[in-house]
Amino acid sequence: MKKNKLTKSDLIHFLQCEDQKELDKLFNRAYQEKMENVGKKVYFRGIIEFSNICSKDCFYCGIRQSNQKMTRFRMTEDEILECAEFAWKMGYGSLVLQSGERTDREFIEFVEKIVRQIKKISNDELGITLSLGEQSKETFQKWFDAGAHRYLLRIETSNSRLYSTLHPPDHDFQYRFQCLEHLRNVGYQVGTGVMIGLPGQTAEMLAEDIIFFKKHDIDMIGMGPYIPHPDTPLASKVKKFDKKKQLTLGLKMIALTRLYLQDVNIASTTALQALHPEGREFGLKAGANIIMPNITHTKYRDNYKLYDGKPCLNENAKMCRVCLEGRIGNIGEEIGYNLWGDSPHFQKKQKK
Ligand code: 5AD
Ligand code: FES
Repeated sequence: MKKNKLTKSDLIHFLQCEDQKELDKLFNRAYQEKMENVGKKVYFRGIIEFSNICSKDCFYCGIRQSNQKMTRFRMTEDEILECAEFAWKMGYGSLVLQSGERTDREFIEFVEKIVRQIKKISNDELGITLSLGEQSKETFQKWFDAGAHRYLLRIETSNSRLYSTLHPPDHDFQYRFQCLEHLRNVGYQVGTGVMIGLPGQTAEMLAEDIIFFKKHDIDMIGMGPYIPHPDTPLASKVKKFDKKKQLTLGLKMIALTRLYLQDVNIASTTALQALHPEGREFGLKAGANIIMPNITHTKYRDNYKLYDGKPCLNENAKMCRVCLEGRIGNIGEEIGYNLWGDSPHFQKKQKK
């Protein structure tokens, strides 16, 4: 494999490859690429999943509006601030606020207030990433002005036809894409990503996802294997779910994205761990450099199940930290405490 010269057909080749020796070489190469571009430091983003109330109805997602089996919750302002303070005191550097999607005024103002409060109680030190779905440009701006500086909005798939099979007709691919542009124009560091191994998704579509990340100058990538949730319509399209294959496909995507984009931040997502106890460590070894420890109150975790078999539901935030320190130490990497951990890709743009 020639360095940094992967073509679309190379991407497709590796996505389809089943030769373990060749794949090990690919993962090692991606790991080296990571060392050269972002180094050994793993950055933490403590994630607070503060509400599962959602106005969307994505066919794959456990917290979709039509899933009436899900008990709905929302954390109070005080509970969220308590989690944020924990993240700050633990030296996490940066946190992610995620919830189901809502666009009503009460929600918009609630988030604005929370962001301002978190900045205040952390002496402006905690970095804040939002992952709150599609919003108007004005709302993105309002939250940015309040102090959020990164936003994650997965495109889910860059293929608009596949997108339409995963969502009801009123979930519009073009609008979602436009949101990414708005985020960039407002000034956020923009994160996106896809689900990997979806029904109807081909290796070519996945290769195009990677090309999409590069073309749109994405700073951070959060992507993970699709995992069927039994109370969702998409699950019925999956005849036989092969955990191992799905995990390997997720790792291939991480490795190929590292090789193709080089200096971005790539998260090793919890969905990998849902497929294998060491899934996130495998992700780091395949080229990822970000981990998102769950700092949501344990009492709410059970109700934020986007997919089946989500790990760590009974752990509390302190246990997650100890567990992660051990896991990261075991693979010879270190944690970038108290750092925002912007991607070198973003830093280079700032210097221009
Ligand atoms: N499997 C894997 N990821 C999922 N998400 C939602 N449902 C699933 C699932 N069944 C992901 C989507 C969404 C993010 C918050 O969670 O990519 O953007
Ligand atoms: Fe769209 Fe949960 S309902 S991702």
